[in-house]
Amino acid sequence: MTLVQKDSWGSRVGLILAMAGNAVGLGNFLRFPVQAVQNGGGAFIIPYLTCFLLMGIPLLWVEWSMGRFGGRHGHHSTPFILHQMDPKRALWKYIGVFGIFTNLAVASYYCYLESWTLSYIWHSVVGTFQGQSAEEVAAFFGNYVDVGTTTTGIPYESIIFWLLCLALNTWILARGLQGGVEKVAKIGMPLLILFGIFLAIRGVTLKAGEHGAVYDGTLGLNFLWTPDYSSIWSGKVWLAAAGQIFFTLSVGMGSIQCYASYVRKKDDIALNAMSAGWMNEFVEVVLGAAIIIPISIGYLGIEKVVEMTKTGGLGLGFRTLPYLFTQWGPAFAAVAGICWFGLLFFAGITSSLAMGTPVMGFLKDEFGWKHKPAAWFFGGLVLVLGLPCVIWFQEGVFDEYDYWAGTVSLVVFALFEIILFAWVFGMDKGWAEITTGADIKVPNVFRFIIKFVTPLFLGFVFFKSLPTIWDNLTKPVPWQVWVGRAILITLFLAIAWFVRVAYLKRKKQLDHVKP
Ligand code: ALA
Repeated sequence: MTLVQKDSWGSRVGLILAMAGNAVGLGNFLRFPVQAVQNGGGAFIIPYLTCFLLMGIPLLWVEWSMGRFGGRHGHHSTPFILHQMDPKRALWKYIGVFGIFTNLAVASYYCYLESWTLSYIWHSVVGTFQGQSAEEVAAFFGNYVDVGTTTTGIPYESIIFWLLCLALNTWILARGLQGGVEKVAKIGMPLLILFGIFLAIRGVTLKAGEHGAVYDGTLGLNFLWTPDYSSIWSGKVWLAAAGQIFFTLSVGMGSIQCYASYVRKKDDIALNAMSAGWMNEFVEVVLGAAIIIPISIGYLGIEKVVEMTKTGGLGLGFRTLPYLFTQWGPAFAAVAGICWFGLLFFAGITSSLAMGTPVMGFLKDEFGWKHKPAAWFFGGLVLVLGLPCVIWFQEGVFDEYDYWAGTVSLVVFALFEIILFAWVFGMDKGWAEITTGADIKVPNVFRFIIKFVTPLFLGFVFFKSLPTIWDNLTKPVPWQVWVGRAILITLFLAIAWFVRVAYLKRKKQLDHVKP
């Protein structure tokens, strides 16, 4: 791959690592193991892999090819990529709003979560958790997210680390694709895998009786991988598997299209999409499964861990593991803490950077913004939008953002885009987009899958989720959650308005050139 554009990927390896980094995130290490445990251990993996094959892989190809197609026409964000695919209908550019909205809204809570990992790296280095009881380590987390309470003498510690993390993200984004995003991916991804392998080996080789462990690490692994076929017939397990595939691959977000829009028009996307997608699966299914569960089950037993996962993955990752690491002695605990929170940090930042690029692409394409101001604008917006998640974390605003932006929006957007791609743009053109420049033979069966199976599957997932969406909307919540909802709705409408302004501007320019 050679350099022709100002904004482009420096190398194929860099592109694949950046795309894999976009996918590999906190979801691989915190969300996946918990979903698997809650949904029948080994039984989860069958629906999970089926969803990967029938929704994940097709959507990867669809989004990569939409992105490269858009880039060819000078678009780097979904409103005008979708518009370009069906210029006659006004609807699509507004559907494309999701591809900017989701990135902004997810980044708003995600960067806060990412900032905890920075703080916990620091606490692992200075040995904060040494000598603390399990209850004290767990309480530390509660105090940390309760913004006003100081645990270590640093006032507003969580806010300081959050600002640091936002500034870091913005600074890297301001350095551009090659000088920033790609460099971080090239350093972060290998380190993440290295740290992951180290901890996975530790998890799998944990022996009962050593360093206070009660069970072998393999107990947790067996629990995770011993199939429980009964739950395969449960709709809930399928929905959970589908949701995990969306979140982990970052499909339905708009970030893949943006990264792919910087691929040159004849460059391969078929093999690249598979390399990044399968790398994500390796990190999730092999490494993600072999750390948190074997270690915590080794110390606490299956029942207790299943109980603890009911409150999500954050508890195990931030309340429990730092305490269990201290059982391995001060030096080893520090190394394990740095590896665990370090890998979470790299997983997080390579994903949050990907959330910044579509927003910046939109500002640059449509309003002629320069790269640096666009990056700082993104950082500032995430700061404002993220504030309610930080100050009202305990009231549930963080989870509310995650639910609407990180779960529901992904499915809605993916459903629309697959219909556009397969049925409006058309499968003949779509297939040509996927296979142009392909370095692998894309199996023909995927033509059928993309046209029929994926849309039906997605439609099914969406309609099955409607009752849960309704329940969530109608259950009583604190007023702060309503503020969060109002912010999200306002954000969506504001982006739609900017899309309209941009569209009218384009139209005027076109009318002007017409004879
Ligand atoms: N794909 C990213 C993750 O798994 C968002 O965290």
